[in-house]
Amino acid sequence: RVLGGRPADLAGRRVVISAGGTREAIDPVRFIGNRSSGLQGYALARTALARGAEVTLVAANVALPDPAGAEVIRVESALELRAAVLEAVEGADVVVMAAAVADFRPAARSGSKIKKTAADPDAIHLVKNPDILAELGERRREGLKPSPAVIAGFAAETDDVLANGRAKLARKGCDLLVVNQVGENLAFGTPDNAAVVLSADGGRTDIPRGPKEALADTVWDLVAARLG
Ligand code: CTP
Ligand code: CA
Repeated sequence: RVLGGRPADLAGRRVVISAGGTREAIDPVRFIGNRSSGLQGYALARTALARGAEVTLVAANVALPDPAGAEVIRVESALELRAAVLEAVEGADVVVMAAAVADFRPAARSGSKIKKTAADPDAIHLVKNPDILAELGERRREGLKPSPAVIAGFAAETDDVLANGRAKLARKGCDLLVVNQVGENLAFGTPDNAAVVLSADGGRTDIPRGPKEALADTVWDLVAARLG
């Protein structure tokens, strides 16, 4: 069976995808955020649905239409995204962390709007957010709960992109890491993307610059191969 020219190779599989970028509140009106549009995560969701998967999409601050047939859970902060993902992965076969998760959040959120005064403002003290992808890998390694058979992440890198990607893949304990080279108008907010997918067994798949749907389909090819 073929759906829109795609194989139904994810039929009966439950996949969880995080998309977008988290916002870490400073006060009721301000936040620390990032430039992630959610386009790649949504492309992953649409293509997984087209290949027959049951999709839960955990969306952080995305202004895109819900993919038809997906369960969409909206979150704002990294802590909210963590809670939603950890709940959604129970019983899932695959998790793909495409969201840009803030590494840090303000240690305290001001209950009222911070007012401008004559003096310069106080520094904003930041604390680390939990690393959700690493946590998923760790939970699986420890065999604590039934974990997804395939855990995948994304990484935007500069400098030595491949070496950074390899080190990150090992550190996170995931199976696949989609590594984007940032700059050159790729990645953020653009319809196109190019990447190298590294796998835990040492494999490497180059994805030439093209639509985010094409990158998504290659990711699902690799995921389906690992699911067997
Ligand atoms: N990620 C996560 N939780 C975080 C930070 C990142 O789950 N607190 C996930 C992202 O969703 C992505 C992967 O980890 O799939 C890689 O994110 P990246 O920011 O490249 O890695 P970091 O470990 O945060 O390293 P650094 O930002 O220092 O390069
Ligand atoms: Ca990071």
